[in-house]
Amino acid sequence: MLKHDMTKRGAGLKNDHENSVQKEYAHLAQKYDDKWSFYVEATLQKTLKKIELHSGEHLLDIGCGTGALLAAIEKRYPDAVLAGVDPTQEMLDIAGNRLSKKVHIKRSWAERLPFDTETFDVIVFCSVFHYIREPLLALKEVVRVLKPTGRVVITDWCDDYITCQICDLFLRVFNKAHFKTYRKKEFYQLLSSSGFFDDIEINGYKVNWFWGMMTATACKKSNVKR
Ligand SMILES: C[S@@+](CC[C@H](N)C(=O)[O-])C[C@H]1O[C@@H](n2cnc3c(N)ncnc32)[C@H](O)[C@@H]1O
Repeated sequence: MLKHDMTKRGAGLKNDHENSVQKEYAHLAQKYDDKWSFYVEATLQKTLKKIELHSGEHLLDIGCGTGALLAAIEKRYPDAVLAGVDPTQEMLDIAGNRLSKKVHIKRSWAERLPFDTETFDVIVFCSVFHYIREPLLALKEVVRVLKPTGRVVITDWCDDYITCQICDLFLRVFNKAHFKTYRKKEFYQLLSSSGFFDDIEINGYKVNWFWGMMTATACKKSNVKR
């Protein structure tokens, strides 16, 4: 295959994947909060525990969905400056109704963040990373928009649990939007080999018999090479 054709094929696969994500969540948006209420509340509380914001600090929630986490952060840290991005307009419409006008929400992807470099103190992902096909590209964007003292908090499904392994295999076959889940060790390796982060910590836990999760925290490396 010619290089040009391969590039076109790569772009086609990416568009296919992005369309699948948007289609899935456009369809789910109105039902999302009710259907996933237990899961969202449980993962939100675990993620919130790892977020520490000082007055006036800037936080970005990537894949903010219907805005449940941002609403909880807004309540806990009324002086923080909050923003959220999500590629699915129908999810953002619900977030827009739920959040105060002070919270900036934009339609965008983790891989292409519409913000200036060194804007945020904290960046959070909650139940989003398993959709990301180009994790290094997304992490590169994350460090670009993080301030030099910035931190990340990433909560996602954890492949160390058998239920998640089954879920991952099933979704890889039957759900075009899904990409992959990670084991703790593998995710640690991804974060450390990127060369972008220090002080990486990952905790695994179950929120019920089915959902095995992990939350990773890390700090942006000083003098990170981009
Ligand atoms: C399971 S929902 C999680 C929503 C929210 N974070 C929560 O905890 O309720 C996944 C969200 O990730 C978004 N998403 C999927 N791929 C993304 C990407 N590459 N960049 C940013 N957001 C993405 C979807 O549109 C969807 O709203």
